[in-house]
Amino acid sequence: MTGGAHPRRIVFLGPPGVGKGTQASTVAKELGLLHLSTGDLLRAAVAEGSELGRAADGHMRAGRLVPDDLVLAILRGRLERPDARAGFILDGYPRNLDQARALAALTPIDQVVSFELDPKLLVERLAGRRLCPVCGSIYNVVSRPPRVGERCDKDGAALEQRPDDRPEAVEVRLQVYARQTAPLLEHYRHEGLLRPLDASGTPAAVADRLRRLLQTHPGGA
Ligand code: AP5
Ligand code: MG
Repeated sequence: MTGGAHPRRIVFLGPPGVGKGTQASTVAKELGLLHLSTGDLLRAAVAEGSELGRAADGHMRAGRLVPDDLVLAILRGRLERPDARAGFILDGYPRNLDQARALAALTPIDQVVSFELDPKLLVERLAGRRLCPVCGSIYNVVSRPPRVGERCDKDGAALEQRPDDRPEAVEVRLQVYARQTAPLLEHYRHEGLLRPLDASGTPAAVADRLRRLLQTHPGGA
């Protein structure tokens, strides 16, 4: 793989629970790209109790989008830092057409990977998810259990469930995705940037497909 041949500014698009964060955390490291998850940045702000976190918390718990201006401010701040210069994987941004326009004004995008999965499996993946509150590692009680009990393999912290993985919030998140985010598929298809990815099978199988996909440019071989 020759680094220069790869797209460097990548968006991961797909419904809640499809595996965006799981794949981004592996593939970004391999390609030397920044993994930029707006969900992770917002959860960190909530944990800190910052002004942004206090403004975002209620929206996130309910499964609704956080207001565009708040998310754009953290995204812009993060993209301006030196470690974003080599390229990035955006995981969780944009989520609606206004965000896509705001992103286009900030930076060009090379590829948009659209994660596709049977909706029944999304709910299963979300129900079994556990997160490390210290390092952010993503586990699943069924498909990716930690080695010992419910503790992080890396730092031993007790794993937690996300507040928005409760069934009521999951339902809202899926509706928000269908109404506000799914129209971006057509938007990016129209721009010639959309690359569909079959997100079924094991995380390793998805990662292999993703690596192959990222070796080719849209419209290329
Ligand atoms: P965000 O954190 O972005 O959540 P999301 O889009 O709902 O996506 P998830 O993180 O739930 O799923 P994922 O695709 O990353 O799946 P994962 O890899 O964890 O956003 C949360 C909230 O923040 C939003 O609701 C909103 O309030 C706010 N927000 C964020 N960005 C915003 C924005 N731009 N604008 C406004 N508001 C914003 O995998 C899920 C589970 O499946 C895990 O347990 C994993 O181990 C397992 N798994 C992964 N891959 C596989 C596989 N291949 N097979 C089996 N299991 C698998
Ligand atoms: Mg995620």
